[in-house]
Amino acid sequence: MTTQVVKPTTKLDQFLHEQRPPTPFVVVDVDVVADRYHELVTALPAAVVYYAVKANPAPAVLRRLVAVGSSFDVASPAEIDLCLEAGAVAGSLSYGNTVKKRRDVAYAASVGVTRYTVDAAEELDKVLSVAPGSSVCVRVRYDGATADWPLTRKFGCTPDEAARLLVDATNAGSECGISFHVGSQQRNAAAWDEPLGVVAGVFDRARDGGAAPSFVNLGGGLPGSYREAAPSLGEYGTAIGKALDGAFGDQLPDLMVEPGRYLVADAGVLRSEVVLVARRAPDEPRWVYLDCGKFHGLAETMDEAIRYRLRTNRDGGPVGPVAIAGPTCDSADVLYEKADYQLPLELAEGDMVDIMSAGAYTTTYSSVGFNGFAPLAEHYI
Ligand SMILES: Cc1ncc(COP(=O)(O)O)c(C=O)c1O
Repeated sequence: MTTQVVKPTTKLDQFLHEQRPPTPFVVVDVDVVADRYHELVTALPAAVVYYAVKANPAPAVLRRLVAVGSSFDVASPAEIDLCLEAGAVAGSLSYGNTVKKRRDVAYAASVGVTRYTVDAAEELDKVLSVAPGSSVCVRVRYDGATADWPLTRKFGCTPDEAARLLVDATNAGSECGISFHVGSQQRNAAAWDEPLGVVAGVFDRARDGGAAPSFVNLGGGLPGSYREAAPSLGEYGTAIGKALDGAFGDQLPDLMVEPGRYLVADAGVLRSEVVLVARRAPDEPRWVYLDCGKFHGLAETMDEAIRYRLRTNRDGGPVGPVAIAGPTCDSADVLYEKADYQLPLELAEGDMVDIMSAGAYTTTYSSVGFNGFAPLAEHYI
């Protein structure tokens, strides 16, 4: 399989051509983030968009999303502070991490955050005692097996437990609803069908028990443009709309959606430099070593799960198979060995390899100095 070559926006190209900062770095065009936000509001008009800050918490991204009217899904006090500093109001924040220190809930409540997600009775007790009267979102388990980056196992309670927690939350005087996550980089637009059916069933059972669930959080999962194509956003909008219709008919609950990857991935390019091209054995592919690896932002290449599109300054000539690795003295620092990447035969030390659609889940995954290499540099235009 050859890698696709897709041009970044003119502004990103212009930056790469004119500025040439030392590699490796990520450059993000925040106008693209704003465009993606507007496209999503059009595709899912009934849902309030809570940007999953963990995907890229850069102040420039957050300020731009505040300006276009986004709300925010936060995972920690530090992300709360970043949103508030960017101009968001506390009422637009949802504390979506289901594993929170008691003192972090207290901090969130003290600055005015009123929405919390839980997936266990113990966590519900914590939220109700530290932030009484808050809106409670109960996360139900969904395996999301068709996603490139599944978010299974660690999160979510069973439907039975979810119904019980909704009853408990209602009895405590809280507004309540359900969330799920279909898995990140979910390339199956029909993946919302099954969990929404489950949620409708949980709502029925919870209502039988006296609960008054009022909202559904559709989670994340919308894709970035990586090597394997995903459906268009319009196709996701249509599929999710149908799934909602099938599950709730004309009794549609309030809706939230928590995109991370979709809003920021395609807004960024990671530029790296070839440090070494070596042949280890005549019958093995070339090894291409970049100055950026798994420990410098490309953590999602773990198990070769996220397969980025690559672009080089040698594109156009003949290509051949490669294994691609980062620069550190750790044999885990391999990006791709099995995913059948091909790069130009002419590629050599000093050449540039652009890792496309790298605006999500890169900058904050970078180590602080493994092997003495600085954290991944970031530029925002
Ligand atoms: C609670 C929660 N919401 C939303 C997201 C964003 O998911 P995605 O980047 O697939 O849109 C994540 C990602 O891990 C998450 O944990």
